[in-house]
Amino acid sequence: MEIKGTTKITGIFGYPVKHSLSPVFQNSAFEYLGLDYIYIPFEIKPKDLKFATKSIKIFSIVGVNVTIPHKKEIIKYIDELDATSEILGVVNTIHNIDGKLKGYTTDGDGFIKSLKEEGNFNPKNKNIFILGAGGSSYAICGALIKEKVNYIFISNRTYENALKLKKHLNKKLNFKNVEIIPFEKRNEKNIWKNIDIIINTTSVGMKENDPLLIEKSNIEKVKFVYDIVYNRKTELLKVAEELKIPNLDGLSMLIYQGAISFEIWTGKKAPIEIMKKSLYEKIKSNG
Ligand code: ATR
Repeated sequence: MEIKGTTKITGIFGYPVKHSLSPVFQNSAFEYLGLDYIYIPFEIKPKDLKFATKSIKIFSIVGVNVTIPHKKEIIKYIDELDATSEILGVVNTIHNIDGKLKGYTTDGDGFIKSLKEEGNFNPKNKNIFILGAGGSSYAICGALIKEKVNYIFISNRTYENALKLKKHLNKKLNFKNVEIIPFEKRNEKNIWKNIDIIINTTSVGMKENDPLLIEKSNIEKVKFVYDIVYNRKTELLKVAEELKIPNLDGLSMLIYQGAISFEIWTGKKAPIEIMKKSLYEKIKSNG
């Protein structure tokens, strides 16, 4: 990759950001298509976020991804939001359009693209069981509703958070087919008769000794398992593989949400296979 006077800058704002895998696959994509772009990690402390965001304009940075812990806070400094960011109150992608910053959130759409294109699973008319009611769950539920799913069951450790999500889906998205399954009742057999897909949006599974939240006899009944954890193969995914249930992990979502950002910045179709290849090679070389 040759850096020239004309090279366009993109990158990621996060804190910490050292672990980010986005520079790997974004730079591979630029290189593959011969685009004069570069993608850089920017470690931005929360107290510096305002000035860092201003600097996007000052340095004519074309676009940035935004990750933990800035996704909510950065909204204050952005000029215009797309409809999804407006509804969710979060931004994970910024595009600098002639000095005006437009914010997007590509997590939900990235999830859907990954599910349909890599997972070959269309969620239309399907019944969803989603674990978790944090930021990712909001984005994923919103995107699933756009895809016209039939029913969403939410189960979350803290009941109040599930209730907030339910109200959000009822009121903001006018979607009524939502039911909360109290966390302690999540394995009751009658719930599992008609579930098509389990989605784990919690952080359970990131650590080696994390428990399996759904019993194997219930997992057995579903057609697809999606776990957004991406740092290791979770117990949930291990069971899905054992039962030969099609499944995907969070790396797929990471790539597809990044691909949408790439397309917003460059106007070119993202070379998904190249992005995946570079990411998997990097992970393999990291051991
Ligand atoms: P994200 O933006 O990635 O969704 P988040 O907003 O911090 O992250 O949400 C984390 C989710 O994981 C929440 O649903 C959280 O449940 P609570 O609402 O009860 O906090 C869930 N979670 C985290 N640790 C958990 C654990 N040990 N057991 C069950 N759920 C857990």
